[in-house]
Amino acid sequence: MKQISTAILGATGYTGAELIRLIDAHPNLRIAHLAAHSQAGKLVAEVLPGVSGEVSAMQLASADTPLPSDVELVFTALPHGAAAESVKKALDTGCRVVDLSADFRHQDADTYRAAYGADHPYPELFEQAVFGLSEWARDAVCGTKLVANPGCYPTCTLLPLLPLLRAGALDTSVIIVDAKSGTSGAGRSPKTELLYCEANEGVRAYGLPRHRHAWEMEEWARAYAGQEVHVDFVPHILPMTRGMLATLHLRGDNPDGWHGLLSGAYADEPFVRVLPKGALPTTKGVCGSNRCDIGVVVTGPNSGVVISCIDNLLKGASGQALQNANIMLGLDEGLGLSTQAVWP
Ligand SMILES: NC(=O)c1ccc[n+]([C@@H]2O[C@H](COP(=O)([O-])OP(=O)(O)OC[C@H]3O[C@@H](n4cnc5c(N)ncnc54)[C@H](OP(=O)(O)O)[C@@H]3O)[C@@H](O)[C@H]2O)c1
Repeated sequence: MKQISTAILGATGYTGAELIRLIDAHPNLRIAHLAAHSQAGKLVAEVLPGVSGEVSAMQLASADTPLPSDVELVFTALPHGAAAESVKKALDTGCRVVDLSADFRHQDADTYRAAYGADHPYPELFEQAVFGLSEWARDAVCGTKLVANPGCYPTCTLLPLLPLLRAGALDTSVIIVDAKSGTSGAGRSPKTELLYCEANEGVRAYGLPRHRHAWEMEEWARAYAGQEVHVDFVPHILPMTRGMLATLHLRGDNPDGWHGLLSGAYADEPFVRVLPKGALPTTKGVCGSNRCDIGVVVTGPNSGVVISCIDNLLKGASGQALQNANIMLGLDEGLGLSTQAVWP
């Protein structure tokens, strides 16, 4: 079986470490190159306690080290702003790239600037980047060399929202997304608000008045469902390691029909599960899997809540990134990914 040489840039972060775990077990991919930033020069085993075997003895290159000539696939798991340069270099050497950062998730430079407060260094690459919400973008992912992997909050929100929007089932003037994430969603670099004493036994909202992922949700709701929407999005951080839950407060003429619309849209999708009417998803129920679980509850004649859960490091990041790489390479989309959670 052909092994595709693969590089992970940003291998020492939480999503990078998750990519190592997934790719190490993938039948068609081989880890050929791992790069880091402040930890460059160290051995993987010195930095990532969860990694064992041959890959743990690899030395971490720096992010600007040229890629080995046999590398065909590159995952960039770098902070936004830092990823664009590495993506450009990898594309220039002929590699396929899955970028986990936000650097190529927008279709134009103005939206990128509005969301990230900076000019994009390579806006000419937007045209070839495909926003890889896998279940909605298979054909485009298949034909591109650059996948912009969606953010965790947009994935958790758009998967339940898009089928309802596309069916014209929602009042688009009121879409409230109340979302919660575990602390791994903020990455591994030290931050005061993530210290144990400050994050433990507490919950807080952040990113207000407008978190950068609101632009991403609105842009792709418009692109996929053809509907102009405004999303009132409030993220919260919870004292758990992984997991994400989004509660969508929605209005529409016939909320009793929402469950059928969602079940129909995802009937054949292994990584999206619409729970029986009234059943509620949990972060524990998807932890360790590449699944998004969705629950629907009608709360009034014209209102309801749709709740979705993902593992932020899997369907929200590295799992969906591998799903997209599989699609891009023409492999079975589910290779190396689990539909089963680690439970309890
Ligand atoms: N965490 C999530 O749940 C999640 C979900 C979806 C998308 N994402 C996105 O995925 C990307 C990676 O996230 P993460 O949570 O894995 O971050 P992280 O844990 O903070 O890791 C960042 C990685 O990038 C390297 N790095 C830091 N600053 C750099 C710079 N200036 N230039 C080059 N490399 C640099 C770090 O290397 P050293 O360790 O050597 O310093 C580390 O390997 C981010 O863009 C994030 O927004 C994350």
